[in-house]
Amino acid sequence: MDYHTLLARLGEGSAHPGGFQATKELIGQINFSRGTKVLEAGCGTGRTACYLAGLGVSVTAIDRNGDMIQKATHRARLSGLPIRFMQADASSLPFPDETFDAVFTESVTAFTQGSTAIHEYWRVLKPTGVLYDRELAFAKSLTTAQKKTLQSFYGLQHLRTVPEWLKLMSKSKFHKYSASPFSQMKQMTNDHDPLRVIDHELFTKPDVVAMMMKNERLMSSFSNVMGSIVITAWKA
Ligand SMILES: C[S@@+](CC[C@H](N)C(=O)[O-])C[C@H]1O[C@@H](n2cnc3c(N)ncnc32)[C@H](O)[C@@H]1O
Repeated sequence: MDYHTLLARLGEGSAHPGGFQATKELIGQINFSRGTKVLEAGCGTGRTACYLAGLGVSVTAIDRNGDMIQKATHRARLSGLPIRFMQADASSLPFPDETFDAVFTESVTAFTQGSTAIHEYWRVLKPTGVLYDRELAFAKSLTTAQKKTLQSFYGLQHLRTVPEWLKLMSKSKFHKYSASPFSQMKQMTNDHDPLRVIDHELFTKPDVVAMMMKNERLMSSFSNVMGSIVITAWKA
């Protein structure tokens, strides 16, 4: 089982630094108008997509993982929210050029090769469109061995420091971009997701339990260097 399938089976609703509280704060700052066409790339189990739709935003959401899309669709159905979900890859978005007013994504681009997904975000944005991307970042470069450990467990393609994220953005077609200050990973407070659907039989599988424990260990041993930034990028 890979890490994202584990997250899907656990029904994790906010699998990114800062959790759902950080998502709500960012969305509050952005203050999308009702009817704004937003693409959420890598929507996971659809918690953020539902939150956005509940604010009157017109949401399309994609994820590469079929289990995630299934849970996200279930969540939206229970909430009675009209969201278009599709199983798709952020590096090859199934939408025409200039479709969306905004692309919103949290902890997804790091799992792609980088520049291709960023080009896709740029391509599907309308000329006045804006990208909001919260990404895992590292306070300093890791050793090759440390990188290998994290990459193989999480399926991360790159482990970027803030300057490395900015360098990636500088090579993109975005006209302008900025990044928030680095925010160190905090201990997640207990956040109740009322529509979380957990596949409980997972806890009877020793290999899966071992995987969850390894996740805890990695999170704690890298907590002093791991954090996140929010990149905002304007097409024009
Ligand atoms: C760490 S989770 C974050 C999910 C969600 N954004 C959240 O914050 O809860 C990463 C998500 O990105 C999805 N993902 C990874 N690579 C992807 C890709 N190339 N295209 C689309 N989705 C991808 C995974 O399936 C997973 O749902």
